[in-house]
Amino acid sequence: MKKDFLALSEWSATELENIFSLCRDLKNKTKAGVPHPLLQGQTLAMIFEKSSTRTRISFEVGMFQLGGHALFLHSGTTQMGRGEPIKDTARVLAGYCDAIMIRTYAQAAVEELAQWAKIPVINGLTDMYHPCQIMADLFTVSEHRSNYRDLVYCWIGDGNNMANSWINAAAVFGFELRVATPKGYEPNAAVLARAEAVGAKIFLTHDPQEAARGAHVLNTDVWASMGQEAEQQLREKAFVGYQLNEQLLGLAAADALVMHCLPAHRGEEITDAVIEGPHAVIFAQAENRLHIQKAIMATLMRDKACS
Ligand code: CP
Ligand code: NVA
Repeated sequence: MKKDFLALSEWSATELENIFSLCRDLKNKTKAGVPHPLLQGQTLAMIFEKSSTRTRISFEVGMFQLGGHALFLHSGTTQMGRGEPIKDTARVLAGYCDAIMIRTYAQAAVEELAQWAKIPVINGLTDMYHPCQIMADLFTVSEHRSNYRDLVYCWIGDGNNMANSWINAAAVFGFELRVATPKGYEPNAAVLARAEAVGAKIFLTHDPQEAARGAHVLNTDVWASMGQEAEQQLREKAFVGYQLNEQLLGLAAADALVMHCLPAHRGEEITDAVIEGPHAVIFAQAENRLHIQKAIMATLMRDKACS
């Protein structure tokens, strides 16, 4: 049966660690110039309803390196933008392609696409989740810290799609996650409740210093996500005090890692000094999007390539 990659909560720790192992192997092969055409002749449809640099390029280059082909489909230049139903698009694309990656607004839209498409669907970001990014992030931590499942992670800022996905990751892998947001900007309540129901160690606070104290991994993201541009000024006021700066970093573990999925608004949620400082692994995260994307696609699609 086909499997989709819509949310980390739908995967087990063992399955995700298998993806990390494959990622490590594919990264080594890429660095050594060893070909790895696991998806020769296959095509990935990439639907974008929001902007992207990293996601588009890593999937497109990744598919090329796997011996396949990626189609960039901006919804505005297809019939989707004119209202063709998702369930129709899903069946049409499944007749031409081998998998679909979609970046859109509603998680329900991605779920509907997956329900109607007979081919695997990958969530390339919704308002609710960004699972591929968290996979690249955790893989990056694992490259720096072999005990990545035993570390204390903290999230500073908006309770957005990234925060929700970190909550799912904490539930799957069992690590402690502290989430500091302003009042009214907490993560999704249903995501939290599901994580807590399976015993996840999640601590919510409105105090960034409490979250950062002694933490091993500090994470943040923009204060206004894609689709929230009109709230930028309001959010700038609400998030005063939630900047990941050297002072906050000074409270964390001495060897703490700093992460940001990018794009960043330097001087807002994070300072230039922290991005460029010795704790940041931000550009390693970005590079690892390529390797993790390939591992995710190969995991979902290679059975078909072999059959
Ligand atoms: N981090 C991330 O998904 O970046 P893009 O929006 O550039 O794809
Ligand atoms: N939270 C951000 C992540 C961008 C990769 C957004 O949704 O815009």
